[in-house]
Amino acid sequence: MLIRLLALSLTLIAPALAQGELRGHGGPVRAIAVTPDGTRAISGSFDQSAIVWALERGVALGVLRVHEGAVNAVAVLPDGRFATAGEEGGIAIWRADDFATPAALMKPHTAPISALAMSPDGRTLASASWDSTLALTPLSGGAPRRFEGHQGNVNGVAFTHEGRTLVSAGYDATLRLWPLDGGTARLLRLPAALNALAVSRTGEIAVGGSDGSLFLLAADGTLRATIEAADAPVIALAFSPDGARIAAASPRGAVSLFETASGKPVFTLSGPGLPVWSLAFTPDGRHLLTGGGDRLVRRWDARSGEHLGPVVIARPADVFSGLEGGRGAEVFKACAVCHTLTPDGENRAGPSLHGVMGRRIGTVPGYRYSPGFSAHDITWSRETVARLFELGPSTYTPGTKMPEQIVGSAEDRAALVEFIEKAGR
Ligand code: HEC
Repeated sequence: MLIRLLALSLTLIAPALAQGELRGHGGPVRAIAVTPDGTRAISGSFDQSAIVWALERGVALGVLRVHEGAVNAVAVLPDGRFATAGEEGGIAIWRADDFATPAALMKPHTAPISALAMSPDGRTLASASWDSTLALTPLSGGAPRRFEGHQGNVNGVAFTHEGRTLVSAGYDATLRLWPLDGGTARLLRLPAALNALAVSRTGEIAVGGSDGSLFLLAADGTLRATIEAADAPVIALAFSPDGARIAAASPRGAVSLFETASGKPVFTLSGPGLPVWSLAFTPDGRHLLTGGGDRLVRRWDARSGEHLGPVVIARPADVFSGLEGGRGAEVFKACAVCHTLTPDGENRAGPSLHGVMGRRIGTVPGYRYSPGFSAHDITWSRETVARLFELGPSTYTPGTKMPEQIVGSAEDRAALVEFIEKAGR
């Protein structure tokens, strides 16, 4: 509940399309994961969508939309597919090359899913839910195996490194270790409600408390250290790939990194993009990605803590070439991660906007629109495109997968549509 209330207030105070701000999501970025080869990332947002990013090119490859509510958790499957989980209690599996329709849909829970974890053998997906249960869903199909015992919201789930035990953390201040070959769960009571959980490659367990504590436990559940990590609840945790460091984020404070062995602080990230809702290291351990209340995915040097800028400007020349000068070009930067304007332009996560003025909605060849979107009776013009971003896509074109965004000022909308018309001719 706390998380939802905070999310609401953050969305309300976040400026709509601030100058030069780059983003794809229309709400705080709640979850993030990177593929094992480090080329792609997937982010989930309160805007009900997930976005798959090409990290090097800095473009959005697809907007994944199927959940009825916030996308609270995402996971990368070992074969390159993606999993997303939503507030409605469902899980969707997505192929690596088809972002239009999910390959499979499952509904293991009756309340929001808060976390996902992939089993090391790649066969089962574990989910934690506010319906007080955990589920292990086989990817090959079949009924989920359920784990009951938590009193109230379960906020974190992970496999221990060898995959024989499931670990969960809940709002009932308990950490539970469930042996997967049967047997009773081991229960540990901690002094605070638990919001986040991570397990390192070496089996170390980290749990984030609502009082700002970070608890570090050995693989068998022995409490090794309690660190005062923040003055607000710890809501996201990530171990570095080698397990030597742990990053902790809290909604009111910063992101702090600690040495796993000693518990000593290494550094605190400072700069834009706070508060942070989600964390992921790149597989080479060089970068830390953060998803924030400002709707951006940002990249930081994981060794120095230096801010490297939003992921979406990884190669500014590529995405933003031709977008210099003028207010309209500036406003369009919020669109460029998903839309090209040039005749040879590819379809990114969104269709090419080359020649969009005068075109009927949903008619770019080769682009897979959402059925609800292309069913609207709209021809794009300066007026209709301006209206789209005056009201926001979810109001003007209900059923769309384009993340919600509003261009608040009439001058900015006028400059934007003029730029799209001219640059996209
Ligand atoms: C995160 C990706 C993303 C961002 C950012 C984004 N869009 Fe889109 N846009 C889409 C998607 C996806 C669609 C297709 C909608 C569907 O099929 O539901 C779309 C569709 C459109 C269409 C209709 C195109 C057609 O062929 O009918 C227009 C016009 C448009 N976007 C303009 C913009 C503008 C202007 C901005 C910036 C203010 C913007 N978009 C930002 C993803 C995005």
